[in-house]
Amino acid sequence: MARIIDAGPVCEPRTSMGAFGALNAAQARGLEYNDRVKAETAHLYEMVKDVVTPMEWPAYAPLIAAINKLKGQRDAVILAHNYMTPEIFACVGDFRGDSLQLAREAANTPARVIVQGGVHFMAETSKILSPDKIVLIPDERAGCSLASSITGADVRLIKQRFPGLPVVTYVNTSADVKAESDICCTSSNAVQVVEAVAKQWGVNRVIMIPDEYLARNVAAMTNIKIIAWHGKCEVHEQFSAADVVELRDAHPGVMILAHPECPPDVLEVADYAGSTAALANYVKKNNPRKVVLLTECSMSDNVALENPGVEFVKPCNLCPHMKRITLEAIYDALVEMKYEVHIDPIIAKEAKRAIDAMLALPKTEKPLDFEVGRRAVEVELV
Ligand code: 13P
Ligand code: SF4
Repeated sequence: MARIIDAGPVCEPRTSMGAFGALNAAQARGLEYNDRVKAETAHLYEMVKDVVTPMEWPAYAPLIAAINKLKGQRDAVILAHNYMTPEIFACVGDFRGDSLQLAREAANTPARVIVQGGVHFMAETSKILSPDKIVLIPDERAGCSLASSITGADVRLIKQRFPGLPVVTYVNTSADVKAESDICCTSSNAVQVVEAVAKQWGVNRVIMIPDEYLARNVAAMTNIKIIAWHGKCEVHEQFSAADVVELRDAHPGVMILAHPECPPDVLEVADYAGSTAALANYVKKNNPRKVVLLTECSMSDNVALENPGVEFVKPCNLCPHMKRITLEAIYDALVEMKYEVHIDPIIAKEAKRAIDAMLALPKTEKPLDFEVGRRAVEVELV
């Protein structure tokens, strides 16, 4: 069984609060844990039993059974990001993965309805790629500190200041911002996108927005000069190189894996860095004895499901936006068909151009790794 050790800075333990909420929510909706629900969900509990206790399961199972039934009735699929809690990720998610994988699924699914198990910018991306489908975000407040750090008007000003340079935009942005951009990227393909667009435009400088740390981590791996914006992920900016030193002292031999939204000095001392999918792949492939994922809390739970025998130390930072997506919110979304994502068609068309430019790049077999151990390089900030 995978072991999870909580280590500060610590979040509210995942267990009791979520289960309490789900129990109350299920009861308020007339859903109960009975023999039928128990039998229908037994195979799902098998999948999550390492991270969901037998005491919690009766709180989640009625909602899970009801959601799985509703999906069939609505012809809906749930796209579950790696930061969803395991009872969502493993038990109701139809497709699971990082931002890039979910965007590809959104473009390809034949389902009539997409429920985004993720945050608002991901739901917008799904709607842009599948404009004829109904895309639902279970909680409209599920935002992102990166997406809210910049507007379309900001991008227009940046372009005026640096004419002739392409704008590479992280998918963690609004449709408005994507619409002003030349190409999108995710943490799975950022270096590939920067180098490809610089070559296409015949330039050696690109504008890369809005994540300053991602831009600096990319800059350390390429000769292309980067002009960056000052956006930060409120979850990953909290990790520091000092945390890494403390973790190595407290857990000798531990492997430390970081998401590239972390500050560059964290990547300088980490053992590996990459997108959420890359981190999951790394654990699967290398089967480390003890590992730390410097990223959002639920990642360790979800990666633990597939990697029994690996011990996870959790210096856990919650994404408050991702955590707005609960089983009860997904259930309500499917019952009431809310909250439907709408995007101005002109903006959607322009944003699609930038996303399509990214998707048109050759698909790499696996997400691209970020190099660790490199000294941070400076970028020009706007
Ligand atoms: P990934 O693309 O690596 O899944 O990251 C999305 C995200 O929001 C990370 O904070
Ligand atoms: Fe945005 Fe950070 Fe949350 Fe990802 S973890 S959705 S980048 S705030």
